[in-house]
Amino acid sequence: MLGPPRRRRPAPPAATPSAEVAERAVAPRAALGLPPGAVPGQSGRPAGEDGRPRVVPEEFERPSSARVYDYLLGGAAHGAVDRRLGDELTRTSGDVVTLARENRAFLRRAVRFLLAAGIDQFLDLGSGVPTMGNVHEVVARSRSAARVAYTDVDSIAAAHGQALLADVPTASYSTADVADVDAVLSAPGVRGLLDLRRPVGLLAFSVLQHVRDDAAGLVERYVARLAPGSALAVSHFTADDGRATAHVERLTARYAHSAPRPRTRDEVARIVAVTDLVEPGLTWAGEWRPEAGRPPAPTDPRGHWAAVGFVR
Ligand SMILES: C[S@@+](CC[C@H](N)C(=O)[O-])C[C@H]1O[C@@H](n2cnc3c(N)ncnc32)[C@H](O)[C@@H]1O
Repeated sequence: MLGPPRRRRPAPPAATPSAEVAERAVAPRAALGLPPGAVPGQSGRPAGEDGRPRVVPEEFERPSSARVYDYLLGGAAHGAVDRRLGDELTRTSGDVVTLARENRAFLRRAVRFLLAAGIDQFLDLGSGVPTMGNVHEVVARSRSAARVAYTDVDSIAAAHGQALLADVPTASYSTADVADVDAVLSAPGVRGLLDLRRPVGLLAFSVLQHVRDDAAGLVERYVARLAPGSALAVSHFTADDGRATAHVERLTARYAHSAPRPRTRDEVARIVAVTDLVEPGLTWAGEWRPEAGRPPAPTDPRGHWAAVGFVR
């Protein structure tokens, strides 16, 4: 559980891209004031038993999904290697920036919906860097005291996350592989913040494509550990539309962690089959309850299937 309440400060503002900050992000260890003895872990695996991020030095050498995505969204937590891949994706694979923005906009609408439905604690799998309108920022803007436990396998995203959330007592960031249900649920940042005897909003935005095997079975194992009344929100990278994904698979094979495996609508339907979906069901991310006056443009790439449901 949480310790005594700390003085609540507003969530850190979304990072603004500036040349200076972006260059600092090239050497995030120093920029974040992380200890020089950052503990290397097995590459791509969480390091440290306490769930606190230990930066894995090898991760600096290869682009990562979390940091390339942050770059596409206009954040500052990325390095030169990520920018190079982000630029290559933009050049060769269509409008991946719109695709990333559309996914993050779905995240915001889904979280607002779940808050309005009474969900007041969230477990976010594969969170990425928690800026540019991520979950705790939506919670803060909704003037809610909901708790948010972020998790990601990327040690650098996690280090940024912990630094950004140091003064946000209602949010935590743990390093854990989404494929390891026990590791995620027992991470101190999750166990110490969320009460799994009460409903939880399980969030899996654009992460399950990194689970190459049985993603539906994995989600079932999470859901089995959640209390009645819990909810699931999923967006999943797909090649069904084809326009934005021509070279994505080839280029992202360089990621420090697992490369994405796009799934078809039917495959994603099996992942969310453990829930009763709310309207409009499983749809393109941009078409899930779009804000009035802000429907997706017909020319927008459609790169993610999306759905929100309540666990049966
Ligand atoms: C495209 S980003 C999505 C970030 C955020 N969920 C969103 O939708 O805005 C994919 C995220 O999945 C994370 N990821 C990849 N493989 C993972 C794994 N095995 N376990 C946990 N996170 C993973 C990446 O580090 C990255 O942050």
